[in-house]
Amino acid sequence: MKICKLMMALFLFLVLIAFASRYSLAQENPCLMCHVSFKQPAKHVHAVLNMGCETCHAKVEGSEHPKQKKSIKLTQDMPALCYGCHKESKFKGETVHSPVASGMCTGCHDAHQSNFNHILKSASPDLCYMCHKKSNFTRKYVHMAIPAVGCGTCHAPHVSSNPALLPRPVNDLCLSCHAAKAKLPHVVALPGDKRHPIMGVKDPSTIKMINVPDPKRPERQIEVPDPDVPGKEMTCVSCHDPHSSDFRGILVQERICIKCHKF
Ligand code: HEC
Ligand code: HEC
Ligand code: HEC
Ligand code: HEC
Ligand code: HEC
Ligand code: HEC
Ligand code: HEC
Ligand code: HEC
Ligand code: HEC
Repeated sequence: MKICKLMMALFLFLVLIAFASRYSLAQENPCLMCHVSFKQPAKHVHAVLNMGCETCHAKVEGSEHPKQKKSIKLTQDMPALCYGCHKESKFKGETVHSPVASGMCTGCHDAHQSNFNHILKSASPDLCYMCHKKSNFTRKYVHMAIPAVGCGTCHAPHVSSNPALLPRPVNDLCLSCHAAKAKLPHVVALPGDKRHPIMGVKDPSTIKMINVPDPKRPERQIEVPDPDVPGKEMTCVSCHDPHSSDFRGILVQERICIKCHKF
């Protein structure tokens, strides 16, 4: 019994030492003498912070910090600083998010620590509303996917091989949640059990029309699609706004059919 208690005490002692040595590491950091906010770690701490502030900051030679302005600089410019440890190739791709392309990593991340997952400055969707107009996502009819899962299910934060930073092509993405209701070809039932085409056709509203001389009667002009602007494939977002809209069914306009047809 006594031995058991002794072992327990020894164990607790060792644990204490382990903690104390980590803690004193922070205490010895001369920067923390004044930058006291770093003494209270947030929920998520950038792992590199334990390696010391000088991993990323350096004193400017011949100047005194903090007496002089610009007495501390980053060891490398952004985003090269981050790419020193995070593979640059992961941030290159077909579609690159504009703030990533311009090296504004700290537009979304706190370089040191934060209370949000992944040292983010805020949680999605608020993170995204720092730069994207919230009113586009909060119109009368809101796509319930946004309050349910935020923006991250449909958009990669850095890069993607699909347009609009989507994780996969639009129709596949939508059907990943709506397969049951919107079996292809889709909901818009037509007379005679036919279904409205969604795939394999171009959305006419995205095709640019130009005037050219009629080959049969060259004195006359006719309207034809511009071969240099081929238009987009029909997808779910030809009719539905993926975020929110002022029209029932999150449709992009009232009387949706006349967006493309002159019935
Ligand atoms: C004696 C107190 C003190 C110590 C020690 C100190 N700082 Fe500072 N630091 C300050 C103050 C005060 C400011 C704000 C100065 C200002 O606003 O001009 C500051 C500002 C900064 C800034 C922002 C300044 C800028 O130019 O953008 C950085 C980065 C910084 N400190 C890093 C460090 C690092 C890294 C260390 C350790 C090597 C350190 N500091 C040590 C007091 C200190
Ligand atoms: C991973 C690299 C990295 C490490 C490690 C790091 N910093 Fe920074 N720090 C930055 C970057 C990048 C900025 C500029 C942030 C911006 O542009 O918004 C910055 C900005 C600052 C600022 C200016 C105010 C602010 O918070 O934006 C202070 C003060 C600061 N750092 C202090 C420290 C101290 C003290 C340590 C060590 C405990 C430290 N930093 C460790 C990268 C780092
Ligand atoms: C000296 C190396 C180093 C530098 C420089 C560095 N990081 Fe890190 N970073 C790390 C390490 C190590 C991890 C932890 C990796 C892991 O958990 O897999 C990490 C993790 C992260 C994470 C994930 C955090 C989490 O909680 O999962 C983000 C985001 C991040 N870094 C952003 C940045 C940004 C932005 C910069 C530039 C300002 C930067 N890093 C610079 C080493 C570095
Ligand atoms: C538009 C906001 C935004 C910008 C700008 C941004 N990030 Fe991120 N980053 C995120 C989000 C959101 C996550 C979390 C992804 C998740 O939860 O799966 C993340 C995750 C990370 C991670 C951890 C997971 C991973 O993918 O390895 C690292 C490291 C990281 N970012 C580094 C960077 C660097 C370096 C830059 C600048 C080149 C940068 N980020 C710019 C939003 C951003
Ligand atoms: C620091 C500012 C900033 C933040 C934060 C930010 N974005 Fe962006 N984003 C931009 C800019 C700038 C563009 C390019 C201009 C535009 O389309 O409005 C852009 C473009 C986009 C695009 C279109 C990309 C394309 O190539 O078509 C998507 C999708 C996007 N952002 C999603 C998000 C999501 C999701 C978040 C939150 C995780 C987010 N953004 C956070 C600045 C930001
Ligand atoms: C259900 C999936 C889905 C969700 C959730 C989602 N988006 Fe999108 N988003 C899309 C699709 C699909 C497009 C492409 C639209 C197109 O091609 O016309 C897009 C386009 C965009 C664009 C570029 C075009 C534009 O409308 O400006 C931005 C910016 C954007 N989204 C931001 C966000 C933000 C911020 C959130 C969270 C508040 C979010 N998205 C949530 C599917 C989604
Ligand atoms: C992460 C899952 C998810 C994804 C991906 C998703 N949705 Fe949704 N969607 C929902 C949820 C949840 C609802 C609300 C419940 C319902 O009606 O099934 C909803 C509802 C809808 C509605 C009915 C809205 C109304 O007000 O009547 C439409 C239309 C819709 N989504 C279209 C789309 C389109 C288009 C895409 C692809 C850009 C998409 N959804 C992708 C989850 C998702
Ligand atoms: C040609 C236009 C058009 C296209 C393309 C389209 N939809 Fe719809 N969708 C509609 C209309 C019209 C409604 C009925 C809206 C209302 O009045 O509420 C609807 C309703 C819906 C609903 C809600 C009705 C229900 O059954 O719960 C969902 C979910 C939906 N669409 C998903 C999709 C998905 C996923 C795609 C892509 C595969 C898609 N839609 C493509 C026109 C379209
Ligand atoms: C975004 C553009 C767009 C919208 C909106 C749209 N359509 Fe279409 N529609 C098309 C295209 C493209 C075709 C295929 C034309 C072709 O095959 O040349 C088509 C074909 C049709 C056909 C012929 C189908 C067949 O199999 O022959 C009917 C009928 C039709 N649409 C009805 C509607 C109705 C009803 C609505 C409103 C609910 C609607 N459309 C909304 C683009 C659209």
